[in-house]
Amino acid sequence: MTRLISIASGKGGVGKTTLVSSLSFALTELGKDVTAIDANITTPHLGLHLGFHSAPKNLHDFLRGSAKMKEIIYHHPFGFKIIPASLSVNDLVGVNGDKLQSLTMNLIGSTDFILLDSAPSLGREATLSLNSSDELLLLTNPNLPAVLDILKVAKVAEKMNKIILGIVVNRVTGKNNELSIKEIEDIVKYPVIAKIPEDENVQKSLAARTSVIDYSPNSRAAVEVRRLAHYLVGKDFDYTQSLWDKVFNWFR
Ligand SMILES: Nc1ncnc2c1ncn2[C@@H]1O[C@H](COP(=O)(O)OP(=O)(O)O)[C@@H](O)[C@H]1O
Ligand SMILES: [Mg+2]
Repeated sequence: MTRLISIASGKGGVGKTTLVSSLSFALTELGKDVTAIDANITTPHLGLHLGFHSAPKNLHDFLRGSAKMKEIIYHHPFGFKIIPASLSVNDLVGVNGDKLQSLTMNLIGSTDFILLDSAPSLGREATLSLNSSDELLLLTNPNLPAVLDILKVAKVAEKMNKIILGIVVNRVTGKNNELSIKEIEDIVKYPVIAKIPEDENVQKSLAARTSVIDYSPNSRAAVEVRRLAHYLVGKDFDYTQSLWDKVFNWFR
């Protein structure tokens, strides 16, 4: 059965594209067939994160009717599939966003997970990717504006009868100016299912056009994303840090 999951947030810059990329790696590691779609039509970055930004045909071509589905699916060397979007503003002309749903519908059966990198907030573009998915992960940072914004996304998703898998809190530093997990759960009324730390390896991996899972598999951020991937497939995660990693992380 194919699972169609949107990674949604109220605000931009919270880490959606980063999470879609790292979950693609982590779910592939678990033996799942993954297709990641850059569904953030006006400001797409997934292709850029993974080195597919100059693909000859992309999502925009499909939405404009000038490419077939199989022409826009690319194979990442790590083993998952990616549907990149165009970075060019000119490519927005003639795009029919409603075709996104026909794309995801046609992919059903060919893959285990379809991960949609959504546009932030609740504009037409963001609701298109919500519409094209069955489940969603609410992604936030541990601050009040970001959390209040996912509350709105949750309300809209509920009205659309989508399954809310839970909240992922990203860029957690543990400093006391941050909202606690309990405070976030009290506001949004959904459980926090993952807590990904602020980790410089994430930005280093972006500069290397890859994911932290690939770049630094035992870094704290990578471990938490892998824990989330296990949760999504219903597997126990028994990670034991090597002594060396413990010492290394402690010194950092
Ligand atoms: N856990 C993290 N630790 C450190 N930096 C992060 C983390 N998650 C995301 N970032 C950084 O935050 C920035 C925004 O992330 P991005 O995935 O582009 O957000 P969005 O897609 O929600 O706009 C990027 O520079 C990314 O490297
Ligand atoms: Mg993004």
